[in-house]
Amino acid sequence: MNFELKFSALNTLSTVKTGALLILVDPKHQEASGQIKNSKSVASKKSEPKDSSLSGLIAQSLHAAHLQSKSPRVQLLWNIPGVTANPVILAHLGAAQLKDLKNALQQGLSTLKTAAPECAHLSIFLPDVSGQRLQTVMQAVADSAYVYTTTKPSAKASNLSKVSLHAPILGQTPKVQFDQSNAQEAFREGAARVEGMAFAKEWGNRPANHATPTMLGKAALSLAKYPKINVQVLGPREVAKLGMGSFMSVAKGSEEPLRFIVMHYNGAPKSSAPVVLVGKGITFDTGGISLKPGAGMDEMKFDMCGAASVLGVFKSLGELGPKINVVGLIPACENMPDGRAVKPGDVVTSMSGQTIENLNTDAEGRLILCDALTYAERFKPRAIIDIATLTGACIIALGHLRSGLFAAQDQLAADLMEAGERTLDPCWRLPLDEEYAEGLKSNFADTANVADRSAGSITAAKFLQRFVGTMNWAHLDIAGSAWKSSGPGKGATGRPVPLLLSYLIEEAQAAQFTPLTSTPKAKSSTTASKRKKA
Ligand code: BES
Ligand code: MN
Ligand code: ZN
Repeated sequence: MNFELKFSALNTLSTVKTGALLILVDPKHQEASGQIKNSKSVASKKSEPKDSSLSGLIAQSLHAAHLQSKSPRVQLLWNIPGVTANPVILAHLGAAQLKDLKNALQQGLSTLKTAAPECAHLSIFLPDVSGQRLQTVMQAVADSAYVYTTTKPSAKASNLSKVSLHAPILGQTPKVQFDQSNAQEAFREGAARVEGMAFAKEWGNRPANHATPTMLGKAALSLAKYPKINVQVLGPREVAKLGMGSFMSVAKGSEEPLRFIVMHYNGAPKSSAPVVLVGKGITFDTGGISLKPGAGMDEMKFDMCGAASVLGVFKSLGELGPKINVVGLIPACENMPDGRAVKPGDVVTSMSGQTIENLNTDAEGRLILCDALTYAERFKPRAIIDIATLTGACIIALGHLRSGLFAAQDQLAADLMEAGERTLDPCWRLPLDEEYAEGLKSNFADTANVADRSAGSITAAKFLQRFVGTMNWAHLDIAGSAWKSSGPGKGATGRPVPLLLSYLIEEAQAAQFTPLTSTPKAKSSTTASKRKKA
């Protein structure tokens, strides 16, 4: 889909060449900017509308009683005299929050889908040029037009090929010019975001026989077409050489060979410490010998959505080119039961040297992530973030709205929280008190891979924390947010690409003012200073 950004006065859109026109109506803004001068006179004669200009239509619409409700309301108008676009859809914003904008758009777009499914060119008029709002619009359009076709060629892809975003011209003052260049930048970021999300959805949605570890490796290699991206894909022999005994133990039950994917995005000088992203890439999770129940097991094809989000972020970075270094690590394998599979009670040695008693082979995500986290240390990252569909318990705790966020350092937690809020890809912080690690104690290894059922998401995070030392680390549990299990939107969501990309762009901007050579955001605790010496 092609997006374009234009600055246009509302009434010039009457004659704009387009299929449909969607106008987002924000009463406050429209009145404030004086675009509706005659709203009162129109209201008094609303039985007989005189003004068929677009601003006149909005004025009438604003005074229609049934559109006054708080929730967004949509009006579908055909064949308006003097207006080229057909149909015109007015979508009223409820309140001023980003969420209200998203809701209004979703309603407007679903009205469009039903009324004019063949529409190829959509123009949208936005009431303002704020960057976050612009990106929210772009994402809503891309989400609404998304159709998965790879293993369903009969599915009809959306006809929508061009979307023109029209932001208002607010005047010619320097302030407005500043807003316009900000809007241009936000627009580029929005375009990169939707590309990355589409890539993440594609790989998330593919069934496990169309998204094997080998195929994930190829997907990563395809991103090396971007000049700033390098990709290496390691196989079983190289992984054995690295000593990733924990990762290898999970792959043992599968006929599919494991892959360890290492991606570099080089947007800043070599001396600049990277952010490392680690994505869980279990391409199918049967549970292994601790086999999962059959019902709904198909959904475990989504167990590589963490990996897919890392691939998606790299796609976005390739498109956008921000000044930051990012390393992407993806341990990818299947978790299968077999004569050769790892068994409950088996003890394996991780790359860190710590031994692990595997008390439940279904707690496999942490077993592949821990070796990737150890591998990440060599990059001396300014921050390391792992993304994983790690625990069913996270769905119990937070449902499908917010991802679980764990972080050792408050600054990183706050930065990720904010990135989630501004992209409507929210997360929520959960605690990491030492007491939660009690249950992981084992008589037969340095640690067990599971504790009892209580606080399952937290004990999983405590397990991972054993492998990050004093790195500036965060963990996102996306078990509830990475895909939808039912409804018309069943499938991968592309989350948390928006959160991660926005965080990285913010980091890149901050780096223009502070040197990136150390981990400036980590609070210097005793452990953090120990690390600097190491
Ligand atoms: N991939 C699952 C977690 C999961 C389950 C995500 C359902 C989304 C929906 C993970 O590998 C797993 O099986 N976790 C176990 C851990 C348990 C054995 C301690 C779980 O959540 O039940
Ligand atoms: Mn599992
Ligand atoms: Zn899993």
